[in-house]
Amino acid sequence: MNLLRSRFRKKLNKDALDFTSSFAFDKKLCKYDIAGSIAHAKMLGKCGIITKKESGKIIKCLARICREIDTGKLKFSETSEDIHMAVEQMLIRKIGETGKKLHTARSRNDQVALDLRMFLRDAAADIKLLLKVLQEVIIKTAQKNIGAVMPGYTHLQHAQPVLFSHHIMAYFWMLDRDAGRLSDCLKRINVMPLGSGPLAGTSFPIDRKYTAKLLGFSEVSQNSIDAVSDRDFAIETLGCLSIIMVHLSRFSEELVLWSSPEFGFVDIDESFCTGSSIMPQKKNPDVAELVRGKTGRVIGSLNSLLVTMKGLPLSYNSDMQEDKEAVFDAVTTVKKCLRIYSCLLENITINRKKMLQSADDGFSTATDLADYLVREGLPFREAYSVACKIVNSCLENGKRLDELTLKELKAFSQKFSGDVYRNLKPENAVGSRKSSGGTAKVRVLEQIRLARRKLKVKIITDNFLYY
Ligand code: ARG
Repeated sequence: MNLLRSRFRKKLNKDALDFTSSFAFDKKLCKYDIAGSIAHAKMLGKCGIITKKESGKIIKCLARICREIDTGKLKFSETSEDIHMAVEQMLIRKIGETGKKLHTARSRNDQVALDLRMFLRDAAADIKLLLKVLQEVIIKTAQKNIGAVMPGYTHLQHAQPVLFSHHIMAYFWMLDRDAGRLSDCLKRINVMPLGSGPLAGTSFPIDRKYTAKLLGFSEVSQNSIDAVSDRDFAIETLGCLSIIMVHLSRFSEELVLWSSPEFGFVDIDESFCTGSSIMPQKKNPDVAELVRGKTGRVIGSLNSLLVTMKGLPLSYNSDMQEDKEAVFDAVTTVKKCLRIYSCLLENITINRKKMLQSADDGFSTATDLADYLVREGLPFREAYSVACKIVNSCLENGKRLDELTLKELKAFSQKFSGDVYRNLKPENAVGSRKSSGGTAKVRVLEQIRLARRKLKVKIITDNFLYY
C-alpha cells in the first residue's frame, strides 16, 4: 500500500525510491513523530475534527506502535519513503479506516519541522548536561593542581607565567558560554510549527496552542510559510555545536603539544593512548587528536546546511531533507566528544617541575622586570625599553635574567636594587597578578568558587526550562 501514489498509474521506480527515501536516517525521529502524532490526534478529537472515539483509538494504537518499536517487536518496512509515512502506514495497517483520519489538517512539511525541533530540543538539553559534566571535571582538575606554574603563551612563545589551573579554567568559561548559547538557541528551537500544513495553514478549526502545550512548546509559529521553510534553528544549533568543537579542538591541540617530549607538561594515562604498529616507543594522544579531527566534521555539517538552504525559494523543498544527516551526525559527534573528554581529563597528570622549569627559562618574567622599574618611578615605555636592552644583552651572553648581578643590572638603570630578584621568580610573578580575573592563586581560587556556584545555579534554572 502506498498512501501517496493514488494520483499515479505507475509504481515509483525502485532506484528513484532508493534515491528519494529518507527512511534510512529519519527513522531516528520515530519517537518524536509518534509523540507529535499523538498530540495532533488528541487535538483533532478535542476540536471535534474527528470524534473522541476515533482520536482515542488512534492514540492507543500509536502508543502501542511506539512500545513495540522500542521492544523490537515491530519493524518498519525499510522501503518506506520516510518515517512519517512509515508510522502512518503502520497505523492504517493496524486500525484501518480510522487510521486514515490522522493526517487531517497536517502535512509532512509541518510534521518534519516539528520532529526535527523536538529532536534538537532534547539534543541541546543532553549536550548542556554533558557540558556541565566536563565543566565539573575542569574545576576538579584546576583545584587539584592549584599552585602549579607554567609558561603562559602568546604566539606560542613564552609570554608571562601563569597558573596551570588558570589556564585550564579558561576552558570552563568557554564551555559556560557554549551552554548559554545553547539555552538561547533553545528559545528559538522551542516554537511549534504544526498546524502550518504544507505551507498555507488549514481550513479546519484546529487549536495549535493546545497541541503546543501537549508537546511542551512555549510558542507557536506565527507564519505558516516561514514555519515550514525555516531551518534557522538547526543552523543555529549546528553553529553552537561547531563553537563547542572549536573549543574542544583548541584544548586538544594543547594536550597534544603538552604531552609531547618537547613540552612534557602533561602525561596522558596510557589507557587513553595508543601505540604504533611499528615504532615501539610511541604513545599517541589519539583521543585528543580525534576530537580535534572531528571538529572538521561538525563544522562541515554546519557548512553543508548553510549551503543547502542558501538558494531555496520558499516554502518547503526536497533539498531540505538533506538537513537531517548533517544534524544527526553533528549531535552524535559532539556528544561522543564531550563524553570522552571528561574521562580523558580525569586521566591526565601534570609535571609541575617541567612546567616551572620551562616558565623559568624563556624570559617570561621580562614584563615583571619592566614593571619593577615602573614602580621605582620610570614611565612604562622607558622601563620597557630598559628591559628590552637587558633581554638582548642576556641573549647575546647566553644568560638568564636572574643570572645578571646587581651591578650589571644597575648599568642599565640605577633604579635597580637587590629586591628585584624576587620579581624574576615565576611563582612571584604569578602571585603578583592579583587584578580581578588575573592568574594569582587568590584570584584563581575565587574564580573556581564562582564557577562552582554557577554550575549549581544552572541545575536549578535548567530544570525549569521545559516540560
Ligand atoms: N522526508 C521529508 C524530509 O525529510 C519529509 C517532508 C516531505 N515533504 C514533502 N513534501 N515531500 O524533509
